[in-house]
Amino acid sequence: MPSVTGPVVQPLTPPAGSTINFGATVTGIDIENLTDADFAIICEALFTHQVLIFKGQSHVTPRTQYELTNRFDPAATSYGHGKTVDAKRSILHPDLKTIPHQPQVQVIGNGFVPEYEGLKNIQLRHPHHKTFHATTIPETDDLTHTRFYRWHIDAAFYGLAPPIVTTLLAVKVPSGRRQICRYDDGSGDELSVPLGTTAFVSSYTSYDILSPPDQEFARTTKVEYAPHPYIWMSGAKSRPDGLGMVSEGKEIPLEDLPPIEEDKVQILPMCWKNPVTGKLALQVHPSAIRKLHLGDGTIVEDLKEVRDVVHRLQRPGIGPEHVYAHDWEEGDFVLFYNRGVLHSVVGAFAESEVRLFRQCNVAASELPVGPDEE
Ligand SMILES: [Fe+2]
Repeated sequence: MPSVTGPVVQPLTPPAGSTINFGATVTGIDIENLTDADFAIICEALFTHQVLIFKGQSHVTPRTQYELTNRFDPAATSYGHGKTVDAKRSILHPDLKTIPHQPQVQVIGNGFVPEYEGLKNIQLRHPHHKTFHATTIPETDDLTHTRFYRWHIDAAFYGLAPPIVTTLLAVKVPSGRRQICRYDDGSGDELSVPLGTTAFVSSYTSYDILSPPDQEFARTTKVEYAPHPYIWMSGAKSRPDGLGMVSEGKEIPLEDLPPIEEDKVQILPMCWKNPVTGKLALQVHPSAIRKLHLGDGTIVEDLKEVRDVVHRLQRPGIGPEHVYAHDWEEGDFVLFYNRGVLHSVVGAFAESEVRLFRQCNVAASELPVGPDEE
């Protein structure tokens, strides 16, 4: 007879109008007291479903969060975005605070927090699209309407391999109103989302819905990322759908970046292979891209062209029907396969709305595997 207390992996039921085919809720597991058998189930489920949701995990310590994150790649030890040489100039800088006794775990959120895990009097700021997008939603609509802030993969894309997983724990969540997330790209697309949702899309779906010629292009093309990408892009602004940058020549010139070590510049396959299912993910961090290396040896260096090509390939995959917008509740622990999804912060909080999350990822010990590699 099956145990009633054993782990159960239940794939998400898509809401009306949604075609999502990823994500699962896992019950019957206490992350703070994980057995080897539990971990084996989580591992298999993660590579199959990409986003795993565990409810009621408020008691999980920062140390346990780090240990679970690191367990997917025990040889990995450093923070997933790397120690930025020139942190103040990086676009990631304002959003991250580190837990003193567990520095691989960061605190993110919104509002003033007097004390948390050794951090005192911290002012958190949920990123608002007006700080990153080229155009903005009018002030009068700002509480009711929002945008995807930045679709991304959690990774340095310079010197360090992209983390395999990211874990997020919702410690404090303001009570729920909803917002309309606008694409504002001429498509008329929009999506009703819970306030402060984290949005996910499956990069397997993004690949699967491409035409056969585009799939072949994606399988045979490599993406070169900018050196020090988060400093490089800091002068530029995002498209309104959060899926890459507009091209206005505002990137920081290479000679003004911290010293560039050529061997740290990353050229990665456009498609990353799932280690369990063998499926291909169209997996590109659109804001950080700089060049394309085509299958015939051509290198596309025109930045606008590079971005237009990648946007054309990735945009169908973030269509409203493909987005999973997680409705956070306190105690939710979400583990996602950072090499198989893109995700984005969404929403605009009022100053008085306090939100506190813990996030952890660690740079991997190996680069992702492309379509033709084992
Ligand atoms: Fe992220």
